[in-house]
Amino acid sequence: MDLNELKNKVRETPAFVFDEKGIDANLSQLVNLKKKSGCQVLYSIKALPLERVLKKAAEYLDGLSVSSLFEARLAKEVMGETGSIHLTTPGIRDDEFNELIELCTHISFNSINQYQRLIPSAITEESFGFRINPKLSFSEDSRFDPCRQYSKLGIEIEALDCIPKKIQGVHFHTVFAHQDFLPLEKIVVLLKRKFGHKLIELKWMNFGGGYLYNQILDQEPFTNLVRQLKTEFNINVYIEPGKAVVGNAGYLVSTVIDSFSSDGKSVMVLDTSVNHNPEVFEYQRKPNLLEEDKKGAYSYLLVGSSCLAGDLFGEYRFTTELKIGDRVVFVNVGAYSLIKANRFNGYNLPDIYWADKTNRVTLIKHNTYENYHQQWVE
Ligand SMILES: Cc1ncc(COP(=O)(O)O)c(C=O)c1O
Repeated sequence: MDLNELKNKVRETPAFVFDEKGIDANLSQLVNLKKKSGCQVLYSIKALPLERVLKKAAEYLDGLSVSSLFEARLAKEVMGETGSIHLTTPGIRDDEFNELIELCTHISFNSINQYQRLIPSAITEESFGFRINPKLSFSEDSRFDPCRQYSKLGIEIEALDCIPKKIQGVHFHTVFAHQDFLPLEKIVVLLKRKFGHKLIELKWMNFGGGYLYNQILDQEPFTNLVRQLKTEFNINVYIEPGKAVVGNAGYLVSTVIDSFSSDGKSVMVLDTSVNHNPEVFEYQRKPNLLEEDKKGAYSYLLVGSSCLAGDLFGEYRFTTELKIGDRVVFVNVGAYSLIKANRFNGYNLPDIYWADKTNRVTLIKHNTYENYHQQWVE
C-alpha cells in the first residue's frame, strides 16, 4: 500500500485503515513457522476482533484464542465446527462456564480454586489446562509483566506439585512485544526441571502470545524448541499471537483542527485523541507518525481533542510546516487501539476502512450519533 496516498483515500477522519496485504504477509510468515516447527497457531482476537481479520485468521491458521464469553461467541461464529478455540482468563464466571465449555475446545484455568470450583460441572469433550506463572520476569515495567509480584495471572509454578489427571495441557503467557525467544527457552527448561518425564502425560502446551514473530529474524530457537517438545514428550505446541498478526497493518488517519502556541511550543489539535488509542495514555507511549522526520525544521506538539490535559501524542518534527486541515497518519496501531477505543467526551469512534490487495480502500464501518445515543438513552 502506498502510505503517502493513504491519507487521501479516506473520506472523513479520524479513520482506522487496515491493510489486507500487511495482514496476509504476517499470516503467511506464521504459516511458514507452523510448517518449519510443527506448532499450531491461533490468533488472539483481543488484539482486534474485526470480523474480516478473524475470517482470514481462520483460513490461514488453526483457530482463535479468546478471553471472555463474548470473544468466545464471536470466535465460534467465525470458526463453526472447525479448528480450535482456546480460552484463559482470571474472570470465568460460574454462570458462564457451561456455555464456555460448549464454545471452546481448550480452557486453561487461571487458579487452582477456579479449577476446583468449575471442573465438577464439566461434562463435554473439551480439553482442560492450567495457566501457569513461571515467575520469570522479562520486563522492567511491571504493568506489562504477568510474572510481577502478586501476579493475578496463572498458578505459581512452585505451588504445583503434580498435575491432576483431568488436566491435559499447560498455558503460559509472560511477555509483551518481545523480539527473541529466550523467555520461551527458559520456561521450557524450568518445566522440564520441575516435571521431568511427567510432561509426557500432557497433550499440549500453549506458549501464549507476546512475541513479534514477524520481526524476529532468527526463528531457529523457536523451531528447535517445538520439535524438541514433540520428540521428547509427544506434546502439541500452540502459540496465540495478536499483535504479530495486526499490529503493523493498522493506521490511524487524523486531521489537524486547531493550532496555537502554549509556553512557546506550537500545539496542533487533532480530530482524534487518546480515546482512539488509549495505550498512548495508559503506557505513556509515543506512537510513530508517518510524516515524522527527526531532522525536520518544524516541531509540533500533537494533542488529542478531549478535555484530558494528558491527552497528548507527543512532540514530532516535520520537514514542512503543518497547518489546519493537514492530515497525519499514525502507524503500527493495528493492535489494542480500536478494541480499546471509547467515546469519552462524546467524540465519535473513528471510521474503519479496509485497504484490499488491489489497494482499493473501502469504508466498512461508520458510527453515528445514533450509536452514542443508544448506549446512554433508555
Ligand atoms: C493470554 C494471552 N494470550 C495472547 C495474548 C496476545 O499477545 P500479543 O498480542 O502481545 O501477541 C495476550 C495479550 O495480552 C494474552 O494475555
